[in-house]
Amino acid sequence: MANSTVSRPPSLLRLIAIIILVLIILVGLAVLIIWLTVKPRKLEYSIERVDVQGFNLHYDHLNASFDLVMRAYNPNTKAALYYDSINVFVSYDDQNIASQTVQPFFQPHHNVTRLELKPTSQSLTLQGSVSRDLRLEKSSGEIELDVYMRAKVRFKVGRWKSRHYTIKVRCSPVVVHLYSPRKFQSRECDVDL
Ligand SMILES: *[C@@H]1O[C@H](CO)[C@@H](O)[C@H](O)[C@H]1NC(C)=O
Ligand SMILES: *[C@@H]1O[C@H](CO)[C@@H](O)[C@H](O)[C@H]1NC(C)=O
Repeated sequence: MANSTVSRPPSLLRLIAIIILVLIILVGLAVLIIWLTVKPRKLEYSIERVDVQGFNLHYDHLNASFDLVMRAYNPNTKAALYYDSINVFVSYDDQNIASQTVQPFFQPHHNVTRLELKPTSQSLTLQGSVSRDLRLEKSSGEIELDVYMRAKVRFKVGRWKSRHYTIKVRCSPVVVHLYSPRKFQSRECDVDL
């Protein structure tokens, strides 16, 4: 009798410990199964084309309009994407020279979407050294730009929707051939999610 009343608390504790352990294993298995069915894969971006029109650099003032095609590839077979806010920047020598806000859109799973963008610079004042370097590159016929994108996205798997994530995309260098646009080579971008 005395023996059983003494031994009951430890065995109850052991039972609780076993239940907790089993729960942890079940949760772990559930996460693993979800992970394996969703198989998240990295989003891919590249710049497929950049043309410049109306390029005019007068002292430190720049006018230019860029025709830019960004390819956005969602390789995931289960996860779709809401792009809730998207900003694209064209920069030269670390100075933003043109930007564009893109309309929110929904990207289905396993989908390629081409964003056709037209960021422009109008009467933009450049720093002295930046305008000097840009003028030199322009006269060589080749300008090296960087293209950045920042986007707020949510993932959708079945009916489940994730919280917001910020994607930072950097495409560098993007070489623009002013007088022979056919030479353009597409540029893969780095993605930071
Ligand atoms: C840029 O465009 C504006 C408006 O069209 C014009 O007033 C300005 O002179 C232009 N500047 C240059 C550098 O071409
Ligand atoms: C990608 O999704 C967009 C928007 O739903 C659609 O218009 C386009 O045709 C899709 N592209 C491919 C390659 O499935």
